[in-house]
Amino acid sequence: MIYLDGRGKMSKIVIEGGKPITGRLRIQGAKNAALPLMAASILMGEGERLLLRNVPHLKDVETMESILSFMGFLPEREGNSLSLVAPKDIKGEVPYDLMRKMRASVLILGPLLSKKGKVVLPLPGGCPIGTRPIDLHLKGFSLMGAEIAIKHGYIEAKADGKLRGAKIYLDFPSVGATENIIMAATLAKGTTVIENAAREPEIHNLMDLLYKMGVDIGRDGESTIVIKGVEELKGSEISVIPDRIVAGTYIIAGVITKGNIRVENVNPFHMEALLAKLNEAGVRVEHGENWIEASFVERLSGIKITTLPYPGFPTDLQAQMMSLLSIAKGTSIITETIFENRFMHVSELRRMGANIRVEGNSAIIDGVESLSGAQVIATDLRAGAALVLAGLSATGITVVSKAEHIDRGYESFVENLSSLGARITREED
Ligand code: EPZ
Repeated sequence: MIYLDGRGKMSKIVIEGGKPITGRLRIQGAKNAALPLMAASILMGEGERLLLRNVPHLKDVETMESILSFMGFLPEREGNSLSLVAPKDIKGEVPYDLMRKMRASVLILGPLLSKKGKVVLPLPGGCPIGTRPIDLHLKGFSLMGAEIAIKHGYIEAKADGKLRGAKIYLDFPSVGATENIIMAATLAKGTTVIENAAREPEIHNLMDLLYKMGVDIGRDGESTIVIKGVEELKGSEISVIPDRIVAGTYIIAGVITKGNIRVENVNPFHMEALLAKLNEAGVRVEHGENWIEASFVERLSGIKITTLPYPGFPTDLQAQMMSLLSIAKGTSIITETIFENRFMHVSELRRMGANIRVEGNSAIIDGVESLSGAQVIATDLRAGAALVLAGLSATGITVVSKAEHIDRGYESFVENLSSLGARITREED
């Protein structure tokens, strides 16, 4: 058994394409909401308890659990609920091999710095889609009075006494930087104002929790967040919002296979950009308060998509849309503005017969009648999911290797697709 740098077994997903995906599916809680909500537990006073509901069963959630467990938080999982109790002394030095498993581990930096006044953590690694710098996170902390040094691949941050509230303008509405600075500001002395803050729904989920934990926090207009620091945060509970990216992935699975899918326990208002683009391409989309139904009507028409910060079209659905538009009529153009290297699925889709060329940060897709099954490799979780979608639609057999990437963000992906009519299995290497 080959272990990919300590992360689970290497596995592959085998698909026999051509079967329409039809039926209903309840969508999991959002990975990108659960992770910052878990990190917020670091801010609680000793003995306080945080209860999270609708927490998805994912590798990245397990990784965050092991980090918090190392720090002394005794995470307890019961079904889709997760509880965390704040220990007397939080261990601040998390080992490198734990931190390196997941970039989002950087989200413990802000809470730890604010809680303990000093933190030494390994610099998070990059990943295939980009270098993933954290300069905006660190700029925020230094404006709040922290001294930051980067030595031998470690971040050393210390604040003599408490962090101070500050006015921080984010050059880019970074999701992680917004979340990290918000959490650092909750225990700072005074008021912090974050301008040009990210507006993703996952950040609202975090703000709602912090408000329930006793923080005076709110938005002043669409992109400005104001946080008044407090002495201590008490325990509370909250539900993780539905995963809009996972929901979008299954919707596209229904459309790309000429089927009909109804996703439930979703928030359609978090998915307006995707639904509008699917509509524009010729998909029939209906929705209620917490469900969306998408039906294939006729071969899609090519469209233009540009990924943008929320509420623009999400970069995390860019690869999945590329699979879909590979078999649309005419030409589509997808421009990726968020990450510098998020077209690695292009060469894999080409192996399946897609006609795509990349010019700068745009991919020009000339639709083909159908894709053909091939051996392809997942490079990150969203590209992996996109290749599975392409395989569901292709004629013949597709084998997606390094499928363990997908487990980081998709709960029971193979089982769910199989229950919706796909001929799909997973094989361990
Ligand atoms: C979050 O990553 C998500 N991850 C990503 O989802 C998502 O793609 C991304 O937001 C954009 O929506 C989690 O929430 C755990 P950013 P994050 O900071 O916070 C640059 C997935 O598939 N930047 O908004 O890292 C950065 O290089 C993952 O679930 C700086 O330059 O995203 C990137 O080009 C993938 N300096 C852009 O901003 C900084 O200090 C967006 O990054 C921070 C970011």
